[in-house]
Amino acid sequence: MSMIPEGKSKARYINGMFNDLSSHYDRASSFIALKQDRFWRDFAASQVDGCGSNILDVCCGTGELSIRLKARSDNPVTAVDFSHGMVAEASAKYSGKGVRFSVGDAEMLPFPDESFTCVTVSFALRNVTSIERTISEMTRVLKKGGKIIILDLGKPRSKLIRKLYYWYFYSIAPKLGGVLADKGDYAYTYLPHSLTYFPAQDGLKKIMEDIGLVNVEVHDLTMGIAAVHVGTKAG
Ligand SMILES: C[S@@+](CC[C@H](N)C(=O)[O-])C[C@H]1O[C@@H](n2cnc3c(N)ncnc32)[C@H](O)[C@@H]1O
Repeated sequence: MSMIPEGKSKARYINGMFNDLSSHYDRASSFIALKQDRFWRDFAASQVDGCGSNILDVCCGTGELSIRLKARSDNPVTAVDFSHGMVAEASAKYSGKGVRFSVGDAEMLPFPDESFTCVTVSFALRNVTSIERTISEMTRVLKKGGKIIILDLGKPRSKLIRKLYYWYFYSIAPKLGGVLADKGDYAYTYLPHSLTYFPAQDGLKKIMEDIGLVNVEVHDLTMGIAAVHVGTKAG
């Protein structure tokens, strides 16, 4: 059985967890990901090329994907997250750098239909209450012909790599997180559980297609430990 609460209690739990973790998030997360997260975010950001310059980054956290998106866009990037702590960290780091950070819920986005040419989310779909509702909301605020870009942990297709990765992720990562994250250490016990209930690459692709996105591409990164999904809103 899952240790993660369901529904509104899950949202409260996750919100509180990221508020607790916010000041340690960058250091702890990057260390646990063995610094690969930088390369993964760079790759995800590169997928916005050619899809217009009106970008929304959902569940932006401390802004590490948002700022990379800004580097590829002429217009300011809009970025939302429901954790005040994470948004405060993002604003402190990147204020005046062309990203508009604000507090907002990914499952009820505070934007009209068809506002953006590209909507992104990184390392967050494992945390929302409903993956389907979040991607549907991202699609609602996306213009026709625009792209949804999703970066998250994947499930390696090779049995051997999967075994090694799960050993690291379930046994070592929570201990490392505990040392690095101070009072947010319980977040890193939650981390492996968030992956257990997350679909593998093909499952996430199917969810995107069921919502109506077309031409969904899957890019495995670092042997499938992470993956980027890119889908288009039919026009
Ligand atoms: C693991 S962090 C990822 C942050 C950032 N995207 C990155 O790449 O580092 C997950 C983020 O999702 C946010 N989040 C989770 N559920 C959310 C929701 N329903 N609405 C908005 N933000 C949410 C959390 O507050 C947290 O900042």
